Amino acid sequence: MPPTQKKIMLSAVQPSHLLTLGNYLGALRNWVKLQDDYTCLFFAVDLHALTVKQDPKKLREQTYLALATYIATGIRPETATLFIQSHVPEHAELAWILNCFIYMGELSRMTQFKEKSARQGQAISAGLLTYPALMASDILLYQTHLVPVGEDQKQHIEITRDIAIRMNHIYEVSLFTVPEIYTPPVGARIMSLQNPMCKMSKSDPDSNSAIYLTDTNDQILKKLKKAVTDSGSEITLDDQKPGIQNLLQIQAALSEKTPSEIVSEHTGKQYGHLKIKTAEKIIETIGPIRDRTLELMTHKDYLHSIFQAGAKHARERAQKTLAHVYDQVGLIKGRY
Ligand code: TYM
Repeated sequence: MPPTQKKIMLSAVQPSHLLTLGNYLGALRNWVKLQDDYTCLFFAVDLHALTVKQDPKKLREQTYLALATYIATGIRPETATLFIQSHVPEHAELAWILNCFIYMGELSRMTQFKEKSARQGQAISAGLLTYPALMASDILLYQTHLVPVGEDQKQHIEITRDIAIRMNHIYEVSLFTVPEIYTPPVGARIMSLQNPMCKMSKSDPDSNSAIYLTDTNDQILKKLKKAVTDSGSEITLDDQKPGIQNLLQIQAALSEKTPSEIVSEHTGKQYGHLKIKTAEKIIETIGPIRDRTLELMTHKDYLHSIFQAGAKHARERAQKTLAHVYDQVGLIKGRY
């Protein structure tokens, strides 16, 4: 299909820490799989990362790292638009408008807000609460059709859809395309290796709980050996064994098989065998991505040139939507 007729697909990762295997299976690898069928925009949401405390130096490095990882995973910078959220000021501008159309009740019901604010105690930033308005802005600015994400982000896209429908209705014009959600059939929710009842998360203070996409082969093997499994020894599809289900999910997602096929391959084998096989599978996929990412990180000028061109291109699109919204809500057009 000619690029101009393709629908828009957009997604992003928060560079708040090193990227994980969860980010890869739930998001990045699906971006790669779908990229030829869409006009793609992928970016690093550095403004979102500021909703929790960040070390400025690390944040900058992690932002480069996120974009390098996108390319190392197989996103083609020649066809996809890659950029950094803060380089396109329209994201923050539209977010303000959307903030005026989202209700406090909707924001405070968000699972991510409840979980993160519980961890932060008293010092909860207002940004953590209004986070979904910025995310909706990210998506709606580009008249996006499809947003590929992991399970945990579904709620944020649903609220984005609600705002788009609400504003289109209030102004009786099509201000925004209402985006669809894509989540993968396997790998949409990878769990922590240390607590399989919780999601594998970049921000988990226990580094053994997550596989980072920059981990060495040795670190991957060690983390898998330490992974919390369950009582018993038989490898079965059983919800009472969440640790085993997680390893089965990871292996299934990485081998393009179903979890029950992985169970059959392990008939009569012990948990230890499953752990080693899962580690091998992760190393096979993540190893080359890690090496390519680290190599790209030695070429920051190249990365810079990509996200500079990306921001320029993204802004052209974003400005059109923002101008239309400003006009429809009643702001006077600037004459500069
Ligand atoms: P973030 O940075 O937490 O996660 C990035 C992507 O990885 C997915 N993911 C997972 N998938 C499976 N298992 C897991 N354990 C796991 N952990 C994370 C997430 O679902 C996500 O797809 N708010 C977003 C970033 C964002 C965004 C956007 C995404 C900002 N604006 C616009 C899409 C469109 C976030 O914090 O993702």
